[in-house]
Amino acid sequence: MRFWIASPISALPFFVFSLLQLTIASTSNTPQQEPCTVISAQSGNFFDLRPLTRTSASTSSSSSSSNTVHDWTARGHDYPANFTLNICAPVLSDVADVVSVSTSQKSNISAFYITQEGKQYSIGSVSTNPYFRGRKLVLVYAGGSPCPAPDGEEREKSKSSKKKKGSGYRKSTIMSHLCDRDAVRPVISFVGEVNECGYFFEVRSSAACPTAGTQALGPVSVFGIIGLVAALVYLVGGCVYQRTVMHARGWRQMPNYAVWAGLVGGVWALIRSIWDRCASKLHLPRSSYDLIGARRSSLESENRLIDALDEDWGEDA
Ligand SMILES: *[C@@H]1O[C@H](CO)[C@@H](O)[C@H](O)[C@H]1NC(C)=O
Ligand SMILES: *[C@@H]1O[C@H](CO)[C@@H](O)[C@H](O)[C@H]1NC(C)=O
Repeated sequence: MRFWIASPISALPFFVFSLLQLTIASTSNTPQQEPCTVISAQSGNFFDLRPLTRTSASTSSSSSSSNTVHDWTARGHDYPANFTLNICAPVLSDVADVVSVSTSQKSNISAFYITQEGKQYSIGSVSTNPYFRGRKLVLVYAGGSPCPAPDGEEREKSKSSKKKKGSGYRKSTIMSHLCDRDAVRPVISFVGEVNECGYFFEVRSSAACPTAGTQALGPVSVFGIIGLVAALVYLVGGCVYQRTVMHARGWRQMPNYAVWAGLVGGVWALIRSIWDRCASKLHLPRSSYDLIGARRSSLESENRLIDALDEDWGEDA
């Protein structure tokens, strides 16, 4: 007779235990970071920028009639060049003529531009390590072509000869990735440059949106699980108490049945009275229910609630 209650009870510790195990496993067992992915330390969310990488396969499938490869591009607007770049991978375009980059490094140039004079400048070599600066998802390419010398020490070939040709720094790129769930394709905007040395881009894409994945359980879901377990304990424990100690049967086995029933009845009466009031204001056909009836019934349920509370007090005493 009672075993239907006994079985969920005996299953409960196992259930709680397996939930705990799941939580611990998902938090401690953080997998080592795959290239071009990152887990936010703040939210625990997983970000995967790999869909933004252009590969020769992805360009050939896009049925381009000409055999040219397609990297991402960004318009320079007031800057006198447009930019060509790839995310987490070297560019597919030809970069043979890039200025002052060693041939071994040419194969991993990830961003460049060509001036109107036809000079090709690298603005950074590949990186597959996006990271978070605060809430900003950032990808940095460093080690491009040499930056020009500062204005003060203008390169006058006669005076400073070969010594002061550059500043010693190399062109670099910072990309800020923003989540845009509606973006069909990424939109890469050139934001600005500093001293023709640092270049800044904003990339809006759906790839920069967090994916919960199986990577980590956020704090919200952990609290959700705790709340669920608490509700389950309350329900099952309450049922056992009502059944064995109070000898309740049917719906009355529910813990604090009277309180819940009164509450539901009261809320229902309130909804009905609000509905009827709105209906009369809008001259809608009223429901068969009238206002006095609603009041009476809400009073009744109030009384029932008070009775139930009295009952509870009486039982406890
Ligand atoms: C950049 O691209 C736009 C459109 O694709 C073009 O009109 C413009 O002339 C380009 N600018 C440079 C400097 O190449
Ligand atoms: C660039 O390419 C060279 C080989 O050409 C490789 O050894 C090096 O690790 C690459 N650099 C980066 C940052 O990937």
